[in-house]
Amino acid sequence: MAKARIAVVGAGLMGHGIAQVFALAGHDVAITDSFKPNLDTAKERIAKNLRDLGDDERAVERVRTSPMGDAVRDADFIVEAVIEDLPIKQKIFAEIESHAKPDAILASNTSVIPITGIMQNLKRRERALGTHWWNPPYLVPLVEVIETQWTSPEAVAFTMKLHGDAGKKPAHVKKDVPGFIGNRLQHALWREAISLVENGICDAETVDAVIKAAFGRRLAVLGPLENADMVGTDLTLAIHKTVLPAIDSRPGPSPYLEKLVKDGKLGFKSGEGFRKWSPEQQQELRTKVLQHLKQARARD
Ligand SMILES: NC(=O)c1ccc[n+]([C@@H]2O[C@H](COP(=O)([O-])OP(=O)(O)OC[C@H]3O[C@@H](n4cnc5c(N)ncnc54)[C@H](O)[C@@H]3O)[C@@H](O)[C@H]2O)c1
Repeated sequence: MAKARIAVVGAGLMGHGIAQVFALAGHDVAITDSFKPNLDTAKERIAKNLRDLGDDERAVERVRTSPMGDAVRDADFIVEAVIEDLPIKQKIFAEIESHAKPDAILASNTSVIPITGIMQNLKRRERALGTHWWNPPYLVPLVEVIETQWTSPEAVAFTMKLHGDAGKKPAHVKKDVPGFIGNRLQHALWREAISLVENGICDAETVDAVIKAAFGRRLAVLGPLENADMVGTDLTLAIHKTVLPAIDSRPGPSPYLEKLVKDGKLGFKSGEGFRKWSPEQQQELRTKVLQHLKQARARD
């Protein structure tokens, strides 16, 4: 894809990483944030990531920090990565639209808020969609591209190509459902994981150990539907007849999870969640995940 002008609104954890990916792909990137310290450190953080990953550090020279109006005015593609709050996102898109070119594509990196709700008040809704990245954006390949009932096929095609050519794996989400694809799948698994602990079938450590030592080993190369075909849809049906009636299908969050939060057991933040976590254990796990993702990227 020819060099494009990209604007990233929000220079936090996700925004600076998204800017980094587009700059490394050769695009000109303008990044903006209402919180000055985050804007002032964005290029430093990008340069550090590039250095750590052994990527071309000169990519940071294609990133400029600007006030909102300047950042979005001549952009071809504008992606928002501010806090997960519907009224704030709606307000930001109204502001973006007032500055942007009429044909610029507008994208939100919301984790789970339906794109339809975020974009409903825009004047030109056909150029609006979702692009859901995963953390850290420069290591996890997937970007879900979510269309709404108004999004034009041209906007979807441009966005799929832009992200694919930047080295990401774009996945087209054809209906704007809460959680899109990835978080629906992920949280279906988390619901059952919590339920197993809640019902005394095993402890939290065992749930994680079972996943990591069993189907988790295969998941990066064997998706569930490939797996179903591999073992046979007839066997899959037989398993579902026995297992599905027994697994958790409650429509809301588990009371076990609600109690953890009520008791202040917030996970790493408080040192205890489903399990206890010393600062050393937290650091060890974070490092392990990062190493794993770096190795996976190197293999790709
Ligand atoms: N953290 C993740 O793992 C993850 C993964 C996928 C998607 N997301 C989504 O991405 C978005 C950003 O998440 P994050 O983790 O980067 O958050 P973050 O808190 O690190 O960054 C948000 C940034 O937005 C800025 N901001 C707030 N209001 C603004 C405004 N009015 N104008 C400009 N900038 C403003 C903040 O100053 C901050 O720098 C959220 O919608 C989140 O749900 C997060």
